[in-house]
Amino acid sequence: MDMQAIVDQVYSELTPRIGEGKVADYIPELAKVPPNQLGIAVATVSGELYVAGDAATPFSIQSISKVFMLTLALGKVGEGIWKRVGREPSGSAFNSIVQLEHESGIPRNPFINAGAIAVADVVLAGHQPKEAIGELLRFIRYVADDETISIDNTVAKSETATGYRNFALANFMRAFGNLDHPVEQVLGVYFHQCALSMTCQQLARAGLYLANRGVNPLTGHSVVSPKRARRINALMLTCGHYDGSGDFAYHVGLPGKSGVGGGIMAIAPGDAAIAVWSPGLNKVGNSALGSAALELIAQKTGWSVF
Ligand code: DON
Repeated sequence: MDMQAIVDQVYSELTPRIGEGKVADYIPELAKVPPNQLGIAVATVSGELYVAGDAATPFSIQSISKVFMLTLALGKVGEGIWKRVGREPSGSAFNSIVQLEHESGIPRNPFINAGAIAVADVVLAGHQPKEAIGELLRFIRYVADDETISIDNTVAKSETATGYRNFALANFMRAFGNLDHPVEQVLGVYFHQCALSMTCQQLARAGLYLANRGVNPLTGHSVVSPKRARRINALMLTCGHYDGSGDFAYHVGLPGKSGVGGGIMAIAPGDAAIAVWSPGLNKVGNSALGSAALELIAQKTGWSVF
């Protein structure tokens, strides 16, 4: 299989559609990102990297960070995390509050905003937000084997100033006793994790441990057990695209996690980690062209978990 030819073909097939979708504007800083961009990076478990388009341009990974925070939280409290957050798809928007009221403040899964806020509370574990953010940054640099990855503080500030829904979700959970720390501290962690700035190349490499039974094949570092890698992938498949998860599984057939910055990280277990980025979003808040790129890559490579 000529992977570079596939990546190039996908990029050129989608070139006429670049700019499709609507850039997220509820975080003012994200609204400034030029829409006409598409990046593709495929990192294989055999150590190769194939890229096309804007694969070296940093973007705000937003909700994709929830995968790395879940990995950290599982490392800290193991299966105990499931007392704080569920494992079922929500069928609701990523920032929805409705289910929390009837479900005792326990979010449906770790990838909707409420669930990720509960996970941030677990990672905080009695420390200062700065320390938890530092821990995440060290972790992401370790899994990506790249010391240059950083957090865009302007994006974090912009979301802190306008994140009314997240404040509502966090306050609601705190009222149910499902947050141990003050709301401002937990959201301090959450907004900074979402503001991680990465390129498709970095993100594809960072996802490799999930494609390779928990071990980063580039460094040999063991990140999680094979069982844990499988389980994180299962959650990405069932919950990684919110109320678009069924559709993503139908069209792409791989575990994936999206972010409102327009990025998607997808995992082809045993083969590769893929990162795509295009800022325009579809109706449920997932990258329009990113989803299309992954569907084409899955078609052309035959990669699927089904
Ligand atoms: O909390 C928020 O709304 C954003 N920081 C992250 C949301 C997100 O990325 C949803 N993804 N598609």
